[in-house]
Amino acid sequence: MTIGVKQPSIVLGVSGGIACYKAVELVRLLVKAGCSVQVIMTRSAMEFVTPLTFQTLSGHPVASETFNLTQESEIGHINLADSADLFVIAPATANIIGKIANGIADDLLTTVLMATQAPLLIAPAMNIHMYENPILQENLRKLRRVGYHLLEPAEGFLACGYEGKGRLPDPEKIAEEVQRLLKPKDLIGERFLITAGPNREPLDPVRYLSNRSSGKMGYALARAALRRGAAVALVTGPTALAAPAGARTTQVTTAAEMRAAVLKEFSTSTAVIMAAAVSDYRPVMRADKKIKHGKYPIELRLEPNPDILKELGAAKDGRLLIGFAAETEALTANAAKKLTEKNLDMIVANDVTQEGSGFDGDSNIATILDRTGATCALPLMSKDDLADRIFDHFLELKKPR
Ligand code: PMT
Repeated sequence: MTIGVKQPSIVLGVSGGIACYKAVELVRLLVKAGCSVQVIMTRSAMEFVTPLTFQTLSGHPVASETFNLTQESEIGHINLADSADLFVIAPATANIIGKIANGIADDLLTTVLMATQAPLLIAPAMNIHMYENPILQENLRKLRRVGYHLLEPAEGFLACGYEGKGRLPDPEKIAEEVQRLLKPKDLIGERFLITAGPNREPLDPVRYLSNRSSGKMGYALARAALRRGAAVALVTGPTALAAPAGARTTQVTTAAEMRAAVLKEFSTSTAVIMAAAVSDYRPVMRADKKIKHGKYPIELRLEPNPDILKELGAAKDGRLLIGFAAETEALTANAAKKLTEKNLDMIVANDVTQEGSGFDGDSNIATILDRTGATCALPLMSKDDLADRIFDHFLELKKPR
């Protein structure tokens, strides 16, 4: 495993669980890969493994106490926060996850975390029932929403005697994820136009036609592009999400409004990703007054909306165009057809009937197809991780051949 030229600086937070012993191996792997690793332990972590073990392997003193003057002068908690290229918490207990999700900073690890601007990778490990607890799950969703990276726990025999999901992933897997997240700012110079969310097509002043898109996929793409150094213009339908910091965001409602906003941003973009679930149809008539309840069926006539992406495909002029395909059957065949018909460079196909894929959730399962004929089927992963995979593929496609 090789990582960049400058030695990346990792701050590893170790919270108290039996999986602490795997964090020891993780330090060894990261140091072997060329990282500088600084460990912060919680008090309960020190009940499982001694600081000396981490100190010996990392070659740095281990930090644990906020008010220890010797530690503060040798390490300095703000120094730790500032020095990190990446912050990793492994294992992350339910307790530490709860604290981070609720902004509690009552020990050294949570205080440094609060002060850091580095990306954060969290590897939860706990008893299966704790992991399934709805409060814990809500906390995880909250952490994902603010852009933290979460590793799914592994399944298997748990130290508490139960079998199921809750094991800390293998140190090799965590180290691999660290390497991926340490990626350089490789999208500098790109100006992405990204669309997200649904459209709403009004029927009358109180009703509309829409779909189940939450905007999460498009927002994840915007965040990933910004993280990797690109400029982002985000055109979004109505969502409950906070606009990604640093993106120029335009809010729209109907497909016609989305088309107008997209065409406005198109000329200054270098690439386009359409993750929005654009309404294919709109009502022919929009009632001025609320349609009243009546005894007889009423007919709703719909007319097609313009295909925005197809329009961009006909005018792409050197830009790289990436579409999405939300499919319920013949995933790759249908996606390949859209790739050709809309003159795209890449298409990300998601089978929206599959558990964990498509609309609304935090994860997706996608197959990427590109203009060279390559097909890459990806496993279930978070929308944040899929966004990074899409940009990796984008860069591959841009390489001169
Ligand atoms: O928002 P989330 O809840 O996170 O869900 C993510 C998602 C399921 C919406 C996303 O992953 C996705 O699949 N987006 C595309 C949905 C869609 O409209 O697919 P489509 O196969 O109908 O359209 C193909 C492509 O053409 C899409 O890039 C779409 O944006 C574009 N299109 C479609 C119709 C239209 N009139 N104009 C378009 O530009």
